[in-house]
Amino acid sequence: MRETSAYRCQSCGWSSRKWLGRCPECGEWNSFAEERLSAKPSARRAPETPPIPLAEIQKHEGDRFPTGIGELDRVLGGGVVPGSLTLIGGDPGIGKSTLLLQVSRSLAERAGPVLYVSGEESAAQIKLRADRLGIASKDVWFLAETAVEAIEHHVAKLKPRILVIDSIQTVHLAELESAPGSVGQVRECGARLMLLAKGQSVSTFLVGHVTKEGAIAGPRVLEHLVDTVLYFEGEAHHAHRILRAVKNRFGSTNEIGLFEMTGEGLREVKSPSEFFLAERPRAASGSVIIPGLEGTRPLLRELQALVTPANFGTPRRTVIGADYNRTCLLLAILEKRAGFPLQSQDVFVNVAGGGRLQEPAADLGICLATASSFTERPVAAETVILGEVGLTGEVRAVSGFVVRLREAAALGFKHAVVPANNVATEIHTPLSVHGVRSVEEAIGILLG
Ligand code: TYD
Ligand code: MG
Repeated sequence: MRETSAYRCQSCGWSSRKWLGRCPECGEWNSFAEERLSAKPSARRAPETPPIPLAEIQKHEGDRFPTGIGELDRVLGGGVVPGSLTLIGGDPGIGKSTLLLQVSRSLAERAGPVLYVSGEESAAQIKLRADRLGIASKDVWFLAETAVEAIEHHVAKLKPRILVIDSIQTVHLAELESAPGSVGQVRECGARLMLLAKGQSVSTFLVGHVTKEGAIAGPRVLEHLVDTVLYFEGEAHHAHRILRAVKNRFGSTNEIGLFEMTGEGLREVKSPSEFFLAERPRAASGSVIIPGLEGTRPLLRELQALVTPANFGTPRRTVIGADYNRTCLLLAILEKRAGFPLQSQDVFVNVAGGGRLQEPAADLGICLATASSFTERPVAAETVILGEVGLTGEVRAVSGFVVRLREAAALGFKHAVVPANNVATEIHTPLSVHGVRSVEEAIGILLG
């Protein structure tokens, strides 16, 4: 049987793995007593909490505090839950520190003291950035520290409502021999910080750099442990950033928040469809508008295709933003069911403005963009295209039909070409809606 021991302060209950002469929490001398922790559960232990009927459990809904950054609150499910542990992952340089510094300011004003711990940047560097972001709050505290024990100590002393650890890959526990950033360190530090978050009821944000497979552990090793996992995505050459919830114990997943990186930090994008459609060409062949859905949020995107004669050998298929295999399948359907000789053509498909459009509801749009480029006939600019395409060329119904069309109508679109099965039930929309049963029928309507 494995036995480990811990030491607990008999006056305040603070625990430590090592015996300490003086308690760092209450300052009491000689108050630590050893506690043996047995790995084997004792058979005689009396049950401490009896089971209670689910219906009688009290919830504490009002406990959340909003961050004041609408796009983040949406992703968190309405605000920060006290004592919750949130992991924010993303590529280095994507803007995680910038986001958390802005969140720190906002939460310091609303919730109370914020302790921002950085193992990556010095106080002077953070100050420079904070000045650039216009952060002057007295309740944002900064600590350049990498030892978890020291962080625990400062949290116990300062008693912040919010703790930010930037990043989990730089902190370490002295009792582990492995280097900071190794799987063991990341997992153990994550577990210790979770105990801290729950024990002191301090809402904690952990920054985790997503790294390529290798010696340094990515944030994935922490995903099972934390309450919420958010990923901050974007492309280096585009200003927009998407914050995506992939796990959330306090809200729905698949929610996204949209930001734009500017000279003064991150700005919320309140109307994402307008943002993405701002530069759309009019009356150009190969461009279509697809009313996508990100979680519960409709998002209109422009999809472009370019079809050019192939010179020799196997024709090229280049797909950016959409699903590669699905696009190849759709090109085969176009060839076989609608008679487009694409075997002799190179096809390039791109989601304009960056980002992803990988749901099956984009199928019909991909087919139409390709057909439009091939025939060099543009699709009318005020039209949105929606529908999943099956292998026989049939157009199948999609989910979230009404919200998608509502968004298109709100942005001034006039026509929608959609699956016939979706219009079977009565819908109220200012759009003129054409239900289609096959890809061929859609091509007939849109390209004449
Ligand atoms: P940062 O938050 O440091 O990224 P991470 O913590 O994810 O590694 O963001 C770094 C990038 O953001 C950097 O390339 C500069 C840019 N940036 C701006 O464009 N505007 C700003 O106001 C700030 C603070 C950063
Ligand atoms: Mg950073």
